[in-house]
Amino acid sequence: MDRWAGRVALVTGASKGMGEAIARSLVKNGMVVVGCARHVEGMQKAATGLEGEKGRLIPMKCDLTKTEEIESMFQKIKEQLGGVDVCVNNAGVNFYQDCKTGPLSDTKTLYDVNVFAVITVSQLTIQSIQERNRDDGHIINISSVCGSTVHADVPCHMYTPTKQALNAFTEGLRHELRKEKTKIRTTVISPALVDTPLVRGLFDASFFCPEYSLQPDDVAAAVTFALSAPPCVNVRHICLHAIHDSL
Ligand SMILES: NC(=O)c1ccc[n+]([C@@H]2O[C@H](COP(=O)([O-])OP(=O)(O)OC[C@H]3O[C@@H](n4cnc5c(N)ncnc54)[C@H](OP(=O)(O)O)[C@@H]3O)[C@@H](O)[C@H]2O)c1
Repeated sequence: MDRWAGRVALVTGASKGMGEAIARSLVKNGMVVVGCARHVEGMQKAATGLEGEKGRLIPMKCDLTKTEEIESMFQKIKEQLGGVDVCVNNAGVNFYQDCKTGPLSDTKTLYDVNVFAVITVSQLTIQSIQERNRDDGHIINISSVCGSTVHADVPCHMYTPTKQALNAFTEGLRHELRKEKTKIRTTVISPALVDTPLVRGLFDASFFCPEYSLQPDDVAAAVTFALSAPPCVNVRHICLHAIHDSL
C-alpha cells in the first residue's frame, strides 16, 4: 500500500457498515480519505479517533441521489486536496421488496444510489485523475453476490438488477480504460451477507445469522488487497463468502 500513502481516496457511505471499515483501513494505510454520507456526525467521531494514524479522514456531507451534491463535493475536494485518485463506491441501499409489487419510488431510490451515483462518482474520479495528468488511479465498486446470480430465496429481487447493472458498467469501464492504455484499474467486490446495519435492519433471523456472515473488516481487507496489487495487475473481481454461508 506504500504507493498510495498520501493519495486521496473517496469512500461513499462511510458513516457506518462496511464503508466505515474501508475508510478506517485506508486511513491506517496512510491515505487521505474523504468519507461521504448524508449523516456526518459518526464520521466526525471516527475522524477524531483516527488522529495519530498515518492518514486522515475528512467527512463530507453528500446525498448521492443528488447529482449536484456529488459535483460540488468533487469541486470541494479539488480545491482542498487537489483531486480524487481512488474511489470506493460503497454506498448502497436495499429494500425488502419483490418484482410484482415493489413501489416505483423505492425502485427509483435503489437506482439513484446503487447505479447512477456510482456512474457519476466513477466518471468524475477518472476526470479528476486525467486532468491532473496522474498516471494511475483505481475505481472500486462494491457489488454483491446478487450482481451475478438471481437468488431464488433472497427477498430483495428489485435490488439484484441494480448490482448487475453496476457489474456491467464496471466491466465496460475496464475495457475502455484498458483500450486507452491508462493505468486506471477497476475492481468489483461482491460480498455475500455482511454483518452491517443494512442487513440487521432488513432481514430477520430466518435469513440473517451473524455466525454465517462476513464482517465489514473482511471487505475492507479485499479493498486493500486490490489496491496493493502490483501496478501491472488488475484485480478485476473479488467474490467473498463466509465459510459456511449458503448463498
Ligand atoms: N451488508 C450486506 O450483507 C451486503 C452484502 C453485499 C453487498 N452489500 C453492499 O455493500 C454496500 C454497503 O452496505 P452496508 O451493508 O455497509 O450498508 P449500510 O450499513 O446500510 O451503510 C450504507 C451506507 O450508505 C450510505 N448511504 C445510503 N444512502 C445514501 C445517500 N442517498 N447518499 C449518501 N450516502 C448514502 C449510508 O449513509 P447515510 O445513511 O448517512 O447517508 C451508509 O453510510 C452497499 O452497496 C450494499 O449494497 C451489502
